[in-house]
Amino acid sequence: MRSVPEVRAAVAGVRRSGGRVGFVPTMGALHTGHLSLIQRAAADSDFVVVSVFVNPTQFNDAADLAAYPRDEERDVALAAKAGAHVVFTPAVEDVYPDGFATTVRIEGTLTETFEGAARGPEHFWGVATVVSKLFAMVGPDAAYFGQKDAQQCAVVKRLVTDLNLPVEIVVCPTVREDDGLAMSSRNVHLRGSDRERAVALVEALDAAEAAVRSGMTDAGELREIVTKLMAARDLTADYVAIADADTMAPLERVDRRTVIAVAGPVGPVRLIDNIVIDPPPV
Ligand code: PAF
Repeated sequence: MRSVPEVRAAVAGVRRSGGRVGFVPTMGALHTGHLSLIQRAAADSDFVVVSVFVNPTQFNDAADLAAYPRDEERDVALAAKAGAHVVFTPAVEDVYPDGFATTVRIEGTLTETFEGAARGPEHFWGVATVVSKLFAMVGPDAAYFGQKDAQQCAVVKRLVTDLNLPVEIVVCPTVREDDGLAMSSRNVHLRGSDRERAVALVEALDAAEAAVRSGMTDAGELREIVTKLMAARDLTADYVAIADADTMAPLERVDRRTVIAVAGPVGPVRLIDNIVIDPPPV
């Protein structure tokens, strides 16, 4: 479906018969991680809408936007196989009509730290704006996001609370390759030794998690574990975040639900990964 009235009519029909509507927003180039979100939505809902929209306002580099992979036919086939009833592909002119002047701007650590510092808070304002608009267009009961984008999940939860949107946010676990590398559409660009080195991100996070489980809570020491393991594979992190999982505020100690997140270049691509841990009981 390409138009908002079409998707609204389909959702209204499901609602009239008491059905639950699940929604998976994507930018296409679907991989196993997206498919796991669609499968989870299909298990929870009577009707599943998947949007495919490459959102220009969350890119800070025009070349990156132009190079973003697009294969609608493949995405529709994969989404349908995973359990989607509708793939919604709105036109850029419908999402950002002439004279568009409204941005959902979330302030503070949520959008300014880590990925927000690396890409600019405008990235998350673009995400928050398009997600709000897609929720308004589709009107789902629940929306499904991947834990791999931990900061995006925290931003979306904040916006749903702040704007009183009647959408349940379901965060699904990161899907990983056999060796632990987090699934990403960028992984296809990893070749040879870069592909081998990429596993350092998850190895470093696993080591940090093990350290927390054995009682280490100091953020500086944990950051050192991650940095050293990455350096052993000749990788330098853009950041090693040890932060409150809800606000993304940097922490000195792991004393609450904490996200440990890492990002950095591996060969031609920039990878991100994270784990969420609860503090050890005192
Ligand atoms: O995670 C993504 O693919 C995008 O940020 C999203 C949520 C579809 C918004 O464009």
